[in-house]
Parts: sequence; structure tokens; C-alpha cells
Amino acid sequence: MIISQIVAVSLNDVIGKDNGLPWHMPTDMAYFKNKTWGHHIVTGRRNYEAEGKALQGRVNIVLTQNPEYQIDDGIVVHQMDEAIEIAHKAGEDELFIVGGAEIYKLAMPKTDRIYLTRIFANMVGDTYYPELDMNTWKQVSIDNRKADEKNPYDYDFIVYERQQINYNLHQHTSFSDGKETPQKFIEQAIELGFSHIGFSEHSPLPFSNPFSLKEEKVDDYIETIEQLKEKYAGQIEIFRSLEMDYIPGVSEDFDYWRERCKVDYLIGSVHLVKPDGTDELWFTDGPDYKIYDEGLQKFFGGDIRKAVKAFYHQSNQMIESQDFEIVGHIDKIKMHNRGRFFSEDEKWYRILVEETLELVRNKNLIIEVNTRGMYKKTSDSLFPDNQTLKRVKELKIPVIINSDAHHPDEINSYIDYAKDRLLEMGFKEVMILNNQAWETKALA
Ligand SMILES: NC(=O)c1ccc[n+]([C@@H]2O[C@H](COP(=O)([O-])OP(=O)(O)OC[C@H]3O[C@@H](n4cnc5c(N)ncnc54)[C@H](OP(=O)(O)O)[C@@H]3O)[C@@H](O)[C@H]2O)c1
Repeated sequence: MIISQIVAVSLNDVIGKDNGLPWHMPTDMAYFKNKTWGHHIVTGRRNYEAEGKALQGRVNIVLTQNPEYQIDDGIVVHQMDEAIEIAHKAGEDELFIVGGAEIYKLAMPKTDRIYLTRIFANMVGDTYYPELDMNTWKQVSIDNRKADEKNPYDYDFIVYERQQINYNLHQHTSFSDGKETPQKFIEQAIELGFSHIGFSEHSPLPFSNPFSLKEEKVDDYIETIEQLKEKYAGQIEIFRSLEMDYIPGVSEDFDYWRERCKVDYLIGSVHLVKPDGTDELWFTDGPDYKIYDEGLQKFFGGDIRKAVKAFYHQSNQMIESQDFEIVGHIDKIKMHNRGRFFSEDEKWYRILVEETLELVRNKNLIIEVNTRGMYKKTSDSLFPDNQTLKRVKELKIPVIINSDAHHPDEINSYIDYAKDRLLEMGFKEVMILNNQAWETKALA
């Protein structure tokens, strides 16, 4: 179910006067009736009384703080959530908030869409529509109408929708282990209305493997993305990046690839843990949990604490020694655990996470909220998990939501889910790279 507001507003944001409308615009009234007919509507007690009765053909839900308040042509509730619950349980697909000002304001954080009729007149009134934050709302349609013998003012029927997260800076194409060309990803991103897309192939590694960008493909990668930047200029902002695989003593310095690949930013990640005293690597992130389990036995004698500690120790080394912007899926080590070897609540685990977060904060890095585990069903929570995200918020570490897509269909997978979790936790903004500068973008 989506929640919509429907409102008529003068140029100076007036919506009411003396508990009534300050204009008579029959076409707008017909528009209102047409949009809301058959739906549940939520009205404030004053607006309900201004009408004098329930609006027919709709389920009227009246909000009041008065516990004694009763009506016989609608439902009385005392909280907005109660109204939403009633509509939801009734199978409503679009719940309409029909005012007045107090109710619009109250419902704003939960509103997905606004049907706003802009009336081209400055009105004297006593009730105003709340100011809309245009970082949050995107105009999706507008229908200009002229005054006529029945409607005394020009007016626009405008529809706004809440801006979703419309960018993704973590993508793998067929240049590394993704499934499609960058062009296909861009076409899909444009189709989705994305404003920015970043390609972040797995950085080349000095040994044969099936997932990273090959050294001999680097120039092709640089050129392909450059051409696409030019081709789609003005339509979508495209970035070239790498997801750097940090393996101490094995992977190249991040600065080398920053320079060589002329990237816009770097994501630093640990997928392969190098246990002390061996040149072999523990692949913690593969598609098969058995490889994880075997490595745990082989390198750490089954001691999960030692193994997890090695992962975070390597992450810490990366943070301290390398220059990059985003920490990729910071707790990827939990992926094949799934409660089998340890609980993320355990104190020793929280201490390890805490140490890493402190380093991230001191280095002013951005933490990626990565949705891949959710849509691939390989993790029960986002990377990072809720507890870690709460600490990220307390430590005021900036975050970015990415889906780590390996196919164009995954570009926006679970992005809204991540956004909702962040909002629930009180995050107010996420980071975005815009014209080569990192900016915050309001989360709503
Ligand atoms: N231009 C438009 O499209 C449009 C649309 C609708 C209305 N309007 C105009 O808006 C004006 C009315 O707006 P308004 O802001 O004065 O009043 P309102 O929003 O219609 O109603 C306010 C009432 O809602 C109840 N309420 C508010 N917050 C609540 C909460 N958190 N929990 C439970 N109940 C709560 C209270 O009722 P109790 O006092 O009973 O507790 C409060 O007095 C009128 O002039 C009307 O014509 C214009």
C-alpha cells in the first residue's frame, strides 16, 4: 500500500481559511473526487467537521485526540498508525491523506506520493501546507490548466514522488565477474531513473583467478567507461572505480591502481584472508560455504575466533595502510557463518567490529551498506548488520547504499529495503559522489 497526500495549495502555500477552502475550483474538486473515490481517506477532526459529514464513496478515517469523539459515518482513530493499519488490513492499495494542515504534516514522513494542485493566486488564509524539501520530492508529472468560467485561477495538477535512492556506486560487469557489459548496466540504470552509476570491477591480482579484472583488460576498461561517460553525458553521471582486494604482501598498493586506472574513487574490501605463516589464502566470500568451512579447519584448526580476528585484522591493516574512499561490505566474514559458528552478539565479536569502526572513523572513510547478501539470500541481514549500523550512526560515520550488482537486474535490489532500515535507525543522509565531490543526500 502506498500513502498519498492530496492537496490544493495557493502560490503562498495557503490551504485554508476559517476552517474552509479560500477558493471555489470545481475542476479541482472533481479531480480530488476522482482520485480518492473508492479508497480509504484520512482526515483531521477539524477538516471532517468543515465538511460536516463523511465524503461518500470512500472509507473516512477521522483522526482526533478526543477519546469521547464519535461519528456514525466513518471510523475514529487517535493515531496515524492506527489509520494506516486499518487501511492496510482492508487491502487498500493507495491510502489518501486529505488534510488539513496538521494531518498533512503528521503523515509527511510516511507519505510516498503527493497530488498537489498549485493554484496560481496569492491567498489570504490561516492554514498552510508544510514546505516540501525538494531534495526529497521529485516531480513526476504536471498538467497545466487555464482559468475558465468555472475556475477563477490558472492551476497545475502536479504529482510528486518521494526520491528513492537512485544511484549505485558498486557494480561488476563482464570486465570482472559480472554478467553483462557496462552499456547494459547503464541502459537499465537510465530505465530506473538513476542519476549516477559507478563501475567497480574487482582489482587485478597477481595470480590466476576467475573473478578479477585481468591486467590485459585494464586499458579496454578505462576506454570503455570513458566512451560511455561521453555518450551518456547529461543523462546519467558515470564513474570508473575499482573494488580493491586487499591482501597484505600480495595485492598491489591501492595508489598504484588509482593512478593506473584513473578512477573516480576506490572501494576497499577483503574477500581473501591471508592467515599468518602461510602463502595460501582463505576465500571467505565464494559461492560455496564448504570452501569457507574447509579454510576455517585448515588454517585456524576450526577456531572461529582466530579466523574472524584474522579477517578484521586484515581489514584494519587495509584501513590504516591504504588510501581509498569506501569500505566495502565491512562484515562480509559473517556471510557463510549464518549463526553456525558464532553469534554477532558475542562480546568478542563486537569488540573486533568496534576496533575496525574506530579506524574507519579516524580515517574519515565511508561505510558501504551493501544489499547483495539480502537479494542473493546468502545473508540474513545487510552488510553491516543492524548492531554495527547502530554503532556507525553513533560514531557519525557516513554511509552509502550500494547493491554490489553483478547483473543489470540487481542494480536496485533491496536498495529501498536498506534505505528503510537506515531511516528506522535514525540515519538522515547518505553519501553521493556528484561532479567529483562527495556530498550528502537527504534520506527520506
Ligand atoms: N486546500 C486543501 O486541499 C485542503 C484540504 C484539507 C483541509 N484544508 C483546510 O485545512 C483546514 C483544516 O486544517 P487544520 O490543520 O486546522 O486541522 P486538521 O488537520 O483538519 O485537524 C486537526 C485535528 O486533528 C486532530 N489531530 C491532530 N494531530 C493529531 C494527532 N497527532 N493524533 C490524533 N489526532 C490529531 C486534532 O483533533 P482534536 O482537536 O479533535 O483532538 C486536531 O485538532 C481547513 O481550513 C480546511 O478547509 C484544505
